[in-house]
Amino acid sequence: MKILLLAGGGSGEREVSLTSGKAVCDALLRLGHTVRAIDPATGKSLLGDDSIFAAFPLDTNAANSQELVPLTLAGALESPDLHNLDIVFVVLHGGAGENGSIQNLLELSGMKFTGSDMTASAVAMDKAISKRLFESQGILTPDWALYRLPTGRIDDALCRKITDQFSFPIIVKPNDSGSTIGLSKVDSADDLPAALKKALAHTSNILVETYITGREVTVSVLDGRAFPVVEIKPANELYDYEAKYTEGKSEYIVPAKIPAATATQLQETAGRVFDIIGASGLARVDFILAEDDRFYCLELNTVPGMTNLSLAPMAAKAAGIEFDRLMNMVIDSGMRRPIRT
Ligand SMILES: Nc1ncnc2c1ncn2[C@@H]1O[C@H](COP(=O)(O)OP(=O)(O)O)[C@@H](O)[C@H]1O
Ligand SMILES: [Mg+2]
Repeated sequence: MKILLLAGGGSGEREVSLTSGKAVCDALLRLGHTVRAIDPATGKSLLGDDSIFAAFPLDTNAANSQELVPLTLAGALESPDLHNLDIVFVVLHGGAGENGSIQNLLELSGMKFTGSDMTASAVAMDKAISKRLFESQGILTPDWALYRLPTGRIDDALCRKITDQFSFPIIVKPNDSGSTIGLSKVDSADDLPAALKKALAHTSNILVETYITGREVTVSVLDGRAFPVVEIKPANELYDYEAKYTEGKSEYIVPAKIPAATATQLQETAGRVFDIIGASGLARVDFILAEDDRFYCLELNTVPGMTNLSLAPMAAKAAGIEFDRLMNMVIDSGMRRPIRT
C-alpha cells in the first residue's frame, strides 16, 4: 500500500512522536509498503539521507532546533508526490496531531487515515469533557474540577477555592496535554501556586483531581478488542515524562498480576470507554487501581505511543500480535472507515 506517515509535530510530545514514527516507519517498510513520511511541523520529509529518521537514534537537540512552521501540512498534502495515497498513518502525539485538528484536515481532504476521527480525538484530548462522559456512564474517575484561567493569573482566591474543595494530596494538570507534561502532585497548599504555574505554561485550562493512591494500569483496545492489562511500576512517584520514556526507569508487568475478575472488569471498562469516546483503531485507556480493587479511569489516548518501550505494542504482543502485524491491523481498521466529507 502507499502510505503517508505523519510524525513529529509541534507539541511538547514532538520527540516521542518522532521515536514512535521511526518504529512505525521501519515496520511499514518491513511489511513491504511504499512509505512517505512527513513532519507536519516542518513540512519536511522524514526520510532520505539527511533526514531525522536517517540520523536515528534521535538527536534531540537537532529535533528541537528545527524551525517549526505549523500548518504546512495542508500544503504538503498538495504535493504530487502524495497523489494516490491509500492511507495516512498518524503517529502524532499531543497538540494538533491528536486533538482532532489534523484529523479534520484529513477528513476534509477526503483521505483515509488511521486512528480516531476528529470528534473522538477532540473529546479524548479534553480530559474534563471525557470525565463528564465517564461519570454519565457510571465509570469511576477521580473527583475533579476545571479552572479556566484565560488571563493566566493565579491569585489567592483561586488557591483558596481549590483548597476548600479538595483535601490534599491533589493532582494539578493541564486539561489538554499528554506525557505527564505540566502535571504535579501537590501535597500541601504551600505548593499549589507553583503547580498551577507549571500547568499554566502549557494551557489556560487547569484540571485538579483528587490523588488516587494505587497501582498504575493501562488497557489497550483495538476496535473494541481489549488486550491484556499492563501494570506499570514507575521508578518515580508518578508515571512522569522521564519514567515513560527512559529505558529502565519503569517496570512493566503484562499481564498484570491482579485478580482475574479485576482484569476482566478493567478490559470491559476500557472497551466501554473506547465506545463512549467514539474512538477507532488503536487506543489506550489509563487507570489507577486502588487498594480496594476499585479502579479510576484517567483518560483515553487516541494515539498511543509506538516506541520500543510503549505499552500498546506490549499489550498486543501479550495477546500474540507482534508489532508489524499490529501495524497492519491498525491500517486495516483505518481503511474500513468510510471517508466522511
Ligand atoms: N488523579 C490521579 N491520581 C493519581 N495519579 C495520577 C492522577 N492523575 C494523574 N496521575 C499520574 O500522572 C500520570 C499522567 O496522568 P494522565 O491523566 O494519564 O495524563 P497524561 O495525558 O499526561 O498521560 C498518570 O499515569 C499517573 O501516574
Ligand atoms: Mg496518561
